[in-house]
Amino acid sequence: MVKARKFVLANLFKGEPKVDDFRIEEEELPPLLDGQILCETEYISVDPYQRGFTHRYKVGATMIGSQVFWLRVARIVESRSPQHPAGWHVVGTWGWRDRTVVDPTPAPDDILPLMLVPDYRDLPMSLAVGVLGMPGASAYFGLLNICHPKPGEVVVGSGAAGAVGSIVGQIARIKGCKVIGIAGSDQKVKCLKEELGFHHAFNCKTANMDKALKEAAPDGVDVYFDNVGGEQSSAVIANMRQGGRISVCGCISVYNETKVAMAPVVQMHMVGKELVLEGFMVIRWLDQWDKAFLEMAQWIKKGKLKYREAVAEGFENTPKAFIGMLRGENLGKAAVKV
Ligand SMILES: NC(=O)c1ccc[n+]([C@@H]2O[C@H](COP(=O)([O-])OP(=O)(O)OC[C@H]3O[C@@H](n4cnc5c(N)ncnc54)[C@H](OP(=O)(O)O)[C@@H]3O)[C@@H](O)[C@H]2O)c1
Repeated sequence: MVKARKFVLANLFKGEPKVDDFRIEEEELPPLLDGQILCETEYISVDPYQRGFTHRYKVGATMIGSQVFWLRVARIVESRSPQHPAGWHVVGTWGWRDRTVVDPTPAPDDILPLMLVPDYRDLPMSLAVGVLGMPGASAYFGLLNICHPKPGEVVVGSGAAGAVGSIVGQIARIKGCKVIGIAGSDQKVKCLKEELGFHHAFNCKTANMDKALKEAAPDGVDVYFDNVGGEQSSAVIANMRQGGRISVCGCISVYNETKVAMAPVVQMHMVGKELVLEGFMVIRWLDQWDKAFLEMAQWIKKGKLKYREAVAEGFENTPKAFIGMLRGENLGKAAVKV
């Protein structure tokens, strides 16, 4: 009998999650039936909307059960499915568990089916939950398919040093745009400018946003990739140029809030400058993810696209890594090596 550990919610979050809001439980996994595989988790992805979605859960729920984006990279250690041989890696959505028995056959209501990870050769497997996974796809499609950036245009990204934001800025630079990043520490700003090739970057906690934007983009901003919402986004929208495009990826500034957050009104700018704003869920382009990953893997190999990771060690440290990511302790993709 194989034993497995999983995190369950011990308490519903009030504001910022705490380590003791989680509890580890052990379970015995059943023997494999025909068609099933036994997976051992190698990396667990910790993501902001694991916080955003938790109002949907009850105490005792596996963190976070079968929800769509609870991604992890796992190695198949035993298989009774010919299409999923032992030794292969898969990305799946079975919550914070160290082992699972899975039936990999896609169900009609699966939003994100199990995905086999291609052979990355010399790249780390963790990229399957980072730049060559859901965050990378969000950056790629959210920027290119919604904002259509053109060479010479000014692109601003918030949460710019994070999993999605760090890739958005680099793709915009590859497309010939002038790139401005907004991040939450001087260390992140330094990394954006000196390592990731952003043309300008500033610290939203210390800079005067309006002044910094006017200095970096005196003629205004053409494209805004919004990861955070709130006051930061109002400041960028107020500095946009006629016909600007805004891709709304997330709203992390409010995920821990218990009251409705307030931010300056943006509608006058939207009307006067005829701005276009569109939100998205990255699964919209699921059928094209592979193509995007191929292109991004090429950029990585050519040295045009760099990735940063903040990988914590040990399954039991998953809540700490999750809370740290929500506090902004990560530079690049936050994950846990199980
Ligand atoms: N729509 C989709 O399909 C989709 C897919 C993936 C991700 N997302 C969204 O994309 C956004 C970025 O996700 P990610 O995985 O790349 O996370 P991330 O940026 O790697 O990590 C979260 C970052 O958010 C910033 N942050 C924390 N509290 C904040 C606050 N109160 N105000 C402003 N920033 C704050 C911190 O960066 P600083 O230290 O720089 O502030 C922190 O490092 C999230 O909003 C997420 O929900 C959406």
